[in-house]
Amino acid sequence: MEIITDIPSLRLRLKSEHYVVFVPTMGNLHEGHLSLIQIAKQKSGCLVSSIFVNRLQFGQTSDFDQYPRTLKEDLKSLEKNGVDVVFAPTEEDIYPVHQEFIIEPPPLANILEGEFRPRFFSGVATLVLKLFNLVQPQLAIFGKKDYQQLCIMREMTRQLNLSIEIGEGETVRASDGLALSSRNRFLNKEERAEAVCLFQVLSKIKLEIEAGNKNFEKLQNDARETLISRGWDVDYIALRQRNTLAPAQVNNGALVVLGAAKLGETRLIDNLEISAEI
Ligand code: PAF
Repeated sequence: MEIITDIPSLRLRLKSEHYVVFVPTMGNLHEGHLSLIQIAKQKSGCLVSSIFVNRLQFGQTSDFDQYPRTLKEDLKSLEKNGVDVVFAPTEEDIYPVHQEFIIEPPPLANILEGEFRPRFFSGVATLVLKLFNLVQPQLAIFGKKDYQQLCIMREMTRQLNLSIEIGEGETVRASDGLALSSRNRFLNKEERAEAVCLFQVLSKIKLEIEAGNKNFEKLQNDARETLISRGWDVDYIALRQRNTLAPAQVNNGALVVLGAAKLGETRLIDNLEISAEI
């Protein structure tokens, strides 16, 4: 595995590659990331992963500073999982001057996560577009855990005519169902035991709808109430159409239920696709 930290070396290394598969990350890798690497590995080509904590997508600098940096362990996992090239640039490499050209994502970026994390998707899209320009992949893989991010990446490649296929990976869960996330490490023992409740309320909505319940409003409210009564601070529990993430209505077709809530100081997100065509 080659570890490359500067842009000229990256460009030189990838110049002669015909098929590049790319998995961008912010490091602090867990099984969720590694499952994306596994998907990428199934394609024959050069497998590139990046590790870069992107200041542009953090609201407060303290969040940015607190983000766990575990480069040594991350490099070991990437090597074990068969990555060919890791791009781990410094902040000066990616943002040598104040980044003034900023991607303005569509209104899709202002709902759900965007409502609670203003400018978040603008920061993600700006960085990912820069990484796409540097790595020039044919295929890039994103996890469904960040469902809205995946939708925005698809829309970005479509609207900006990038000839990059966007692949997706299923959310990886702990044995009790909690979605793996770098933030789980901030949960204390009691919070970790409680954290699965977000998955449980979303699962209940999924099962109810798949069994024919069409009272979307009540299902969302009940889930919200359950979490609040257990001490969560709920940002949203939202039943949406897949892809557009517009509010779900009966006869909308494929749906997804998404949730975001804080347990103590830790904000968790999760989502489940609903199988039944409504
Ligand atoms: O999903 C993430 O880890 C980040 O948002 C990404 C796509 C690597 C951009 O910083």
